Amino acid sequence: MSKKPFYITTPIYYPSGNPHIGHSYTTVACDSIARFKRMQGYDVMFLTGTDEHGLKIEQKAAEQGVTPKEYVDVIVDKFKNLWQYMNISYDRYIRTTDDYHVESVQKIFKALYDKGYIYKGEYSGKYCTPCESFWTDSQLDENGCCPECHRPVKFAKEEAYFFKMSPFAERIEKLLLETDYLRPKTRAIELVNNFIKPGLEDLCVSRTTFKWGVPVSFDDKHVVYVWIDALSNYITALGYMNDKYDDFEKYWSADVHMVAKDIMRFHAIIWPAMLMALDLPLPKHLAVHGYITMQSKGGESVKMSKSLGNVVDPFVLGERYGCDAIRYHILREMALGADSLFSNEIMINRINSDLANGFGNLVSRTVAMADKYFGGTLPSDRQADALDEDFKSVVLGAVSAVEAAMDETKIKQALEEIFKAVDRANKYIDETEPWKLGKDESAKGRLATVLYNLLDGIRIISTLLSPFMPATMPEVWKQIGAAEADVAYDKLSVFGVLPENVTVCKGAILFPRIDVDKEIEELNSIIQKNMEAAQSSLSAEEKGEAAMEIPELAEEISIDDFAKVELRCAKILSAEKVKKSDKLLCLQLDDGMGGRQVVSGIAEYYTPEELVGKKIQLVANLKPVKLRGVESCGMICASDTPDGVKVLFLDDSIPCGAKIR
Ligand code: ME8
Ligand code: MG
Repeated sequence: MSKKPFYITTPIYYPSGNPHIGHSYTTVACDSIARFKRMQGYDVMFLTGTDEHGLKIEQKAAEQGVTPKEYVDVIVDKFKNLWQYMNISYDRYIRTTDDYHVESVQKIFKALYDKGYIYKGEYSGKYCTPCESFWTDSQLDENGCCPECHRPVKFAKEEAYFFKMSPFAERIEKLLLETDYLRPKTRAIELVNNFIKPGLEDLCVSRTTFKWGVPVSFDDKHVVYVWIDALSNYITALGYMNDKYDDFEKYWSADVHMVAKDIMRFHAIIWPAMLMALDLPLPKHLAVHGYITMQSKGGESVKMSKSLGNVVDPFVLGERYGCDAIRYHILREMALGADSLFSNEIMINRINSDLANGFGNLVSRTVAMADKYFGGTLPSDRQADALDEDFKSVVLGAVSAVEAAMDETKIKQALEEIFKAVDRANKYIDETEPWKLGKDESAKGRLATVLYNLLDGIRIISTLLSPFMPATMPEVWKQIGAAEADVAYDKLSVFGVLPENVTVCKGAILFPRIDVDKEIEELNSIIQKNMEAAQSSLSAEEKGEAAMEIPELAEEISIDDFAKVELRCAKILSAEKVKKSDKLLCLQLDDGMGGRQVVSGIAEYYTPEELVGKKIQLVANLKPVKLRGVESCGMICASDTPDGVKVLFLDDSIPCGAKIR
């Protein structure tokens, strides 16, 4: 009988910075599903990869004086190393710079053009450079900034190709509202209301302002812009319109695309439209999860991202707790749809409670008792008790509950179900009190039964856990004396699979208990250092934006209010420290009106030498005041930044006394 195919994908990630826990989350989640499906007997294709084109990569490479390809090669290696370290069992890794993908994208673009779905036009709109996204006015946030990263957008205009979306609006609306495509379905309404109801706008699919992309085959001034290049990966990696692979027929359409909410819109609307335009079957499910967030300095949760520099290095965590504990933690905390806060404290407590005290303790207690009371090998004596049945039925019940949760890509729920069985097993130990049975020679049959039930229960639980924690479970199987055939998936539905006279093998502690306070202190300092290192690799502008908490806008004023403020250009002639003050500098200015003296609180940020000769922006009609006894006539303009106060210097060509408006 041939196996049923199952195709699952992660997004292809931008190799513009090191991979972090956020990327690990989606990848580990997909890996767990892929492993679970393989265990169930599916023929799994698990795809991941990197999305290597675009302006941002071109710019980063230029900053480092290397080619874009050289730049991405280094980071792609880091992604691959991390996936190896985290036991990611991908079957295929696609790089959008691979020749076969480039060839397919050109053909796909041409096919859409020939069908009349792509046409040439002109783009003008608001563009966010870091996100490489054009936004319509209605999509901008309340400050008129990018709705995604909340940074300022620029007006941009250029000749471009467009993909016609409107012909697909009705079918997409049905797909979202009437099918089980989008998970969680609750987001469908928001998508329909925000993007489809106002009229689907055509999508800009080519750019002429940078070169690092797939050239449009019939108009090489243009490169294919982001989404046609990126989304196509899911089919080009199977050999669609190329000769590199030929399992498109077998695996398409995808069973699960998993993404975070940042790219939900592209996968929920644009991707189906592209497939409809190509007359291809639609994917079965799009599973959307929230962000892993970090607490910001201001206390609110912010998305973890490389451009914010607040990333947690998975290697650091894995080294300390083992990669399975990290896998477990991120899967157990993250519900489909919702955001989850990453904190060291939550992670360590979770590892201690579930893995060290819960599952680890269950295994070590059971194995130790089999060893102590029976020298490691259970005798054939048995004595059942009604008490056993509830324990067995809870453990067996976990199997179908986990299956159902996994079919709906609800990983957190699957783990919760497994841990109900773990808790039940620990409770079974408390109920049966094997240490008392061990003292009573006539209770030998009963003791052997209890320990056998526990070992066989652990067999079921650990098999269920193996897709989530693949590194640890083989060690468990060794300890409980389970052979490979005993942990096959089709043996999960019954008790009594381990041999009657099973022999246990005491081994290492699976998950050592962590000293919470000590560990948190050490971890915080390591992560702080790592974040500083990550920050220093960002450009000055990125860094400032990342650390900056943008203050609230004050109340609106009229142009007349503004006109009351006289801003003038002035030149700093001399500067000296105000006596008995660390903060104040006394500046003599040429204001074009005979000169004046201003006291400014910038002594901690500038030496007098850095200021003399510079032109600045002066608030010229402020009432004079005395600061530390020194008269100050006006104020110079400056900005508060994460690196301290920065004076706004003016171009030397502006004459002293010129009005600023
Ligand atoms: O968007 N929490 O790539 P990308 C949870 N190349 N998941 C996170 C996360 C976080 N803090 N940060 C990143 C792109 N992710 C495009 C995709 S697909 C055809 C093209 C994960 O490197 C999550 O899966 O910005 C998110 O959707 C993805 O990384 C974005 O990765
Ligand atoms: Mg992104």
